Order: sequence, then C-alpha cells, then structure tokens
Amino acid sequence: MATPEKISEVGQILLDTKQPLKERFRALFTLRNLGGEQAVESIAACFEDGSALLKHELAYCLGQMQDVRALPHLVAVLEDKSQEAMVRHEAGEALGAIGDPTAIKVLEKYVNDPVVEVAETCELALGRLHWLEEQNKNKLNSTQVSSDNKEEDVDLPENPYKSVDPTPPARVASVEELKATLMDENLPLFKRYRAMFTLRNLSTTDAVLALAEGLKCSSALFRHEIAYVLGQIQSPACVEALTQNLRDLAESSMVRHECAEALGAIATPEAMSVLQEFLSDTERVVRESCVVALDMSEHENSGQFQYADGLNKVETKSVEVNLSTPVQAVTS
Ligand SMILES: [Fe+2]
Ligand SMILES: [Fe+2]
Repeated sequence: MATPEKISEVGQILLDTKQPLKERFRALFTLRNLGGEQAVESIAACFEDGSALLKHELAYCLGQMQDVRALPHLVAVLEDKSQEAMVRHEAGEALGAIGDPTAIKVLEKYVNDPVVEVAETCELALGRLHWLEEQNKNKLNSTQVSSDNKEEDVDLPENPYKSVDPTPPARVASVEELKATLMDENLPLFKRYRAMFTLRNLSTTDAVLALAEGLKCSSALFRHEIAYVLGQIQSPACVEALTQNLRDLAESSMVRHECAEALGAIATPEAMSVLQEFLSDTERVVRESCVVALDMSEHENSGQFQYADGLNKVETKSVEVNLSTPVQAVTS
C-alpha cells in the first residue's frame, strides 16, 4: 500500500500549477485509484485552481470514488456561483453518483438554477437518488422483489465500463427503439439518458452511430454526455461526428471539450490529428482538453498498463505499489 507520505507527494503534484497539466491529471487519477480519506482531501484541496477542466475532473473523480467524505466538498462547489458552470455541473452529478440520500436537499435547491446545465444535472441526480431509494425499498421486501420492481427496471444490462453513471440503463431493446427514445426531445432527460447508457452498453457499430446522431440534440448537457459515452466505447466509427462538434466554434465549450476527450480515447491517427488542430483554441477548456486527450492517446497507443502512474513518479524502491486496478483512461 502507498504510505501517507507518498499519497501526500502525489497530492502535491496535483496542486502544483507549475507541473504540466497532463502530469496533474495522472496524479488525480492515481489518487482516485488509491481512494481513502487522504486521497479525497488531497483532491478537494485543488478546487481553487484556475483550470475549469482540472476542477471539473476533480468533481468527477470524487463522484466515481463514491466516498461520502467528499459530500461537503461537492456541496460547496455546487453552491459556489463563482465556479464555472461545467464545474458546478460535475459537482451536482457527483452528488448523484455517490448515491447518498442526504444530497437530495441541496440538489432540490438547484433544480431550477439559472444555469441550464446545472439545473438539468440536478434533475438527473435527483432522479438517480430517488431511483436508488426505490431499488433499496424493493430489496428490503426481498420476497416480492420481482413484483415490486417496475417493468422498466427488470433485467437491466451490465455496464462493461464500470463507471458510475448519472442514470441507470434502460432495458435492452432494439437499437431503433433505443434511438427513438434517445432522440425524443419531449421525453424527460432521465429517460433519454437511460436509453443512451443501454446503447453504450450494447456498443455495436449501429449503437455507436445512433448515439452519434444524438450529438445534434438540443440540450448541451445531453450532447456532452453522448460525447463522453462515445469516448468510453472508443469506436473509430464516430470520429467524424465528434470532429464536427469539436470544429463547430458555436458549439458549447463543454461539449467541444468532451468531444476532444473522446477523440483522445479513440486515439486513431485521424482523431489525434484533429486534436492537434485545437491545441491553440481560443477557449482554454478546449485547448487544455486537447493536451490531456493527446496524452491519453499516447498512453492508449503505448501499450502501457497504467495511465494513472502518479505513484510511480514519486516512487522509491522501498515502497510497494498497489494500484492493481487500471482505470480506463477516460476522463469526464
Ligand atoms: Fe460532465
Ligand atoms: Fe467533461
């Protein structure tokens, strides 16, 4: 196991604004993999940074760690209107991901936030927390599990990507049916997200192409999440669609950022050359995403086991490394 001194050294890399951003990202993912109170506190200590990209990733990682000790930090970020929309959004999403019902009150407070991405995120996070409560109730009545579960919640597909998602998946259906739900602007976002995650779990080329069409939907939050799941699937079939949104300078920077990260995960020569184009984008969050995405591409193509190698970098021979679970190099 890593010693507290080593964890603190990784935390210092994360905090150090003189370090290249890609090293800080690797340090962050190392802390996420390590887990525990010290890792949570080291990550939370970085929320005053100047990079919205880094800060939103801190929130994402805290959500994925599902550690209730992160809750007060995430609440503070969601409530802080001086934080960028993308950072507040990710804090709200993380509150849902942790899955603790104590977050319901604060999420309700922001469900009508004037920043639409924040409002929509809180609505989804509330949807997840209420859904979990319902599931737990059914578990308690274990003798009636199947009869108490709504039909839409029976036999849900496995998530092969191991991420904690903002909503559960929908029941498996044909790609056409799932796509119809995905694209239906009149349905609640929660339902459309469920269809999106089932398409992601199917991850066939047809499913990828259906998802890629969602990159034209009206909600920026939804488009950015579609780009995120396309990055998880890593299919070259959507490089063109992701490139279109990244190239569109009128597109929300949160979506352009996510398209860049997805292209980085796909890591084909074509995807990488698109990322090169935007290394000097006028939007800081897009520029920085391209830097991190190219680093992920290099990792993806290097055959190296660990993206989150921050501990190796502060490593001395006397410390045993225990980072046996490589997390897919997909950022939020
Ligand atoms: Fe996000
Ligand atoms: Fe993101």
